[in-house]
Amino acid sequence: MLKTSYVCENCGNVTAKWYGKCPSCGAWNTLAEQEVAPEPAPSPKARRAPARNNTQTVEQSKALRIDEITFQNDIRFLTGLGEFDRVLGGGLVEGSVVLISGEPGIGKSTLLLQICQFVGQKARLLYVTGEESISQIKLRANRVGVDTQNLLVLSETSVNKIIPEINTVQPDVVIIDSIQTMYDENYPSSPGTITQVKQATMQLIAKAKEDKVSILIVGHVNKDGAIAGPKVLEHMVDAVLYFEGDKQHAYRIIRAVKNRYGSTNEIGMFEMSDDGLTEIEKPSERILQQRPKDVPGNCAAAVMEGSRPMITEIQALSSNTTFPSPRRMSSGFDYNRLSLLLAVLEKRIGLRFSSQDVYLNIAGGLRIDEPACDAAAAMALLSSYKEIPVPEDLIVMGEVGLAGECRSVSVMDQRLSNAARLGFKRAAIPYHNAERLKNAYGMEIIRLRSIFDLLRLLNAPKKEE
Ligand SMILES: Nc1ncnc2c1ncn2[C@@H]1O[C@H](COP(=O)(O)OP(=O)(O)OP(=O)(O)O)[C@@H](O)[C@H]1O
Ligand SMILES: [Mg+2]
Repeated sequence: MLKTSYVCENCGNVTAKWYGKCPSCGAWNTLAEQEVAPEPAPSPKARRAPARNNTQTVEQSKALRIDEITFQNDIRFLTGLGEFDRVLGGGLVEGSVVLISGEPGIGKSTLLLQICQFVGQKARLLYVTGEESISQIKLRANRVGVDTQNLLVLSETSVNKIIPEINTVQPDVVIIDSIQTMYDENYPSSPGTITQVKQATMQLIAKAKEDKVSILIVGHVNKDGAIAGPKVLEHMVDAVLYFEGDKQHAYRIIRAVKNRYGSTNEIGMFEMSDDGLTEIEKPSERILQQRPKDVPGNCAAAVMEGSRPMITEIQALSSNTTFPSPRRMSSGFDYNRLSLLLAVLEKRIGLRFSSQDVYLNIAGGLRIDEPACDAAAAMALLSSYKEIPVPEDLIVMGEVGLAGECRSVSVMDQRLSNAARLGFKRAAIPYHNAERLKNAYGMEIIRLRSIFDLLRLLNAPKKEE
């Protein structure tokens, strides 16, 4: 007989009763009902065997010395989309299981169908759809230009039928769209429940490791933006990628939050159009093309997205508030960091941000989480407050400390060379970085000791061209 228990979607803790708050991790409304099959009863033979002698019947495991272990380099399939390959750590690894999640309609199915054309030149693919009919897939394939004979499409939701089909077709790559529609016939709960998502994934992972098939799994996100289903799902797979972007805008960004075969710092940028996703190989150029001229509140910043230096634009807007407590909004920039910068500007320079609503935005839908952009954000805030535009040829870098000091940032050379390539003539960088700088890449270097230097730079009379 099946028993019911409750699993926390956040931490995986199992309880016999339902609670509003998980007793283990303290999260609210995360307990979901699951049905548990009883443990199979031990065979009569196992029951008769005395417990102490058990160790003699089990084959003993043997640990190996590290230099005795042999390995083969991973075989990787290139997907034909360089941006996607980079996020995967240099292509899709044979036998790996990758979870790709994102908001509804962001383009998960499009991305995975699109890579089939290139991968299909060398490998056999099986696209399993549990959401759409095969004619819908065909329609999309026509739209994005996929017509390889190596792609097989299966409309099925039972893993018990998908696994035998994998055995028959013998694909190199399997796409499961999506895991929330899959179910295991041995469990009575409906697709999408924790038990089903976990069981279906476990079976697919076992298949991937046994037959060395690469499996790409699409996962939906819940209303909070996390992958729907148990948190353990993310632990089970080899890589977890998030596909994100603003549906109103054409830009899409794919980032790895976990990758057993590569760095998690890399991002890939795409643009969505009628004929599918196109890679954006030079995102900085794209972002800078749309920079407004002579508008206060904009400042260019050099960020590192993984191993790639990128130039983006930080936009700030401050205006007199009509509310008792002023509004603070930040998009793409850490909210706490914004509060800290405002407090530093208010305390050290004496600007009255407490009577201002402040909005901060990072252009191009990027998310910045490195302190190296503090100085540029502070400059954008100062510029908006003072209504003085930041010179267009100036790029600002540096971390801002609580005393208002500008602290040094890492990989300055790469940031500077990228900025110089994109046409910036002047770089305001922390004093310590400037001291150790070997090459200015033809730019005028301005040394920053504190945020007062930013203010001075802003107030400096504009150079005549
Ligand atoms: N001509 C077109 N027809 C349909 N969709 C288009 C077209 N051109 C662009 N698109 C984009 O493709 C998106 C749908 O992509 P796709 O179905 O791959 O998303 P998804 O993430 O798989 O969605 P779901 O969560 O519903 O499975 C649409 O939101 C739209 O932005
Ligand atoms: Mg889809």
